Amino acid sequence: MLDGKRILLIIGGGVAAYKSLDLARRLMERGASVRGVLTPAGQQFITPMSVASLTGDECYIELFSLKDEAEMGHIRLSREADLVVIAPATADLMAKMANGLANDLASTILLATDKQVMIAPAMNAEMWANKATQRNIETLRRDGILMVGPGAGMLACGEVGPGRLAEVPDMIEAIEDFFTGGLRPLAGKKIIVTAGPTHEPIDPVRYIANRSSGKQGFALAGALSAFGADVTLVSGPVTLDTPPGVTRVDVETALEMDAAVKSALPADAAICVAAVADWRMKAGAGGEKLKKSKEGIPALDLCENPDILKGLSSMTEGRPALVVGFAAETEKVIEHAKAKRERKGCDLIVANDVSHSSGVMGGDDNQVHIITESGVESWPSMRKDDVARALAQTIADTLAH
Ligand code: C5P
Repeated sequence: MLDGKRILLIIGGGVAAYKSLDLARRLMERGASVRGVLTPAGQQFITPMSVASLTGDECYIELFSLKDEAEMGHIRLSREADLVVIAPATADLMAKMANGLANDLASTILLATDKQVMIAPAMNAEMWANKATQRNIETLRRDGILMVGPGAGMLACGEVGPGRLAEVPDMIEAIEDFFTGGLRPLAGKKIIVTAGPTHEPIDPVRYIANRSSGKQGFALAGALSAFGADVTLVSGPVTLDTPPGVTRVDVETALEMDAAVKSALPADAAICVAAVADWRMKAGAGGEKLKKSKEGIPALDLCENPDILKGLSSMTEGRPALVVGFAAETEKVIEHAKAKRERKGCDLIVANDVSHSSGVMGGDDNQVHIITESGVESWPSMRKDDVARALAQTIADTLAH
């Protein structure tokens, strides 16, 4: 199943390092070639000789080795692989990775690689639970790093809890899933996501806006990309980093968002998460700032913006197979969202309560209801990242049928 796949196996310093020798063997039995990198801490547990003997290749240990740099530099090492696996991934290796440190061979490879990285953490349960480690894991997840394990149970230090290196068959399964697309169910699918607010200029310095942070749309774009989709994220003005692998188009107004979405077509799915302003100034922004005057308060003469979601849903030719809308409601959430699905003509509506007390707008958590033709599914309150992953799975399932 892993015929011809090249795996760079970085072995960190942990009692579980010996299991990586077995992992290397099992990967090779399945047709993969394995190249080993052993960190200085890893060498306290297993030797370069055992890694080299098992892999049938040199075991790479030093960043500044003239011989290796001449024959096989860290850049080449990091590129001549189809997947980089770290097992065991220690708290220290993960901290370096999360912060972009590169002061030894393993961390330099990890910073230089353009390949998918998968980590199998192993450490003491308290080290795992430590806020710093959890923060680093969150960063690594956001960076698109795949993770297998850790398991829970009796640890080598005598304590019990999470921190055990994943079992070899589980690591093999995760690696095979990566190559067979098990973890990338949206490979080959093109998906457009809109996110954030729009700003509609009133004059050169003022604009109409709303409280959308873009967090949910960005998280969804990241989750879809991690599932292998080719994602174009059309974003209104937000202060968020682009998720890994995502193509981002920045816009300001609803008209610009509409145009950017149209030029990103055709697509297999379009997910409209953006809180698009309903109205804009009829006469445009004008060249001059509005002045206070004796005539009183100026009236804002507004006109309607294009409804991007409705436009996509009602396309007669080249309509994306799946069009998804979001319904931000402050009351009668499900009832209003059901009506919205009919009115917009989209396939699925994700409804959420954005009343002030819910804390959804700008917050990190969200509780959503999934409304389709066949009914309503209510999900528990989750972090926006988890909502995104679950939605990406629903989108993958829907597109697969
Ligand atoms: O009509 P309402 O704004 O409540 O509908 C929300 C849904 O419609 C969201 O998915 C939003 O992205 C989409 N929408 C749009 N273009 C608009 C207004 C809303 O795509 N002009």
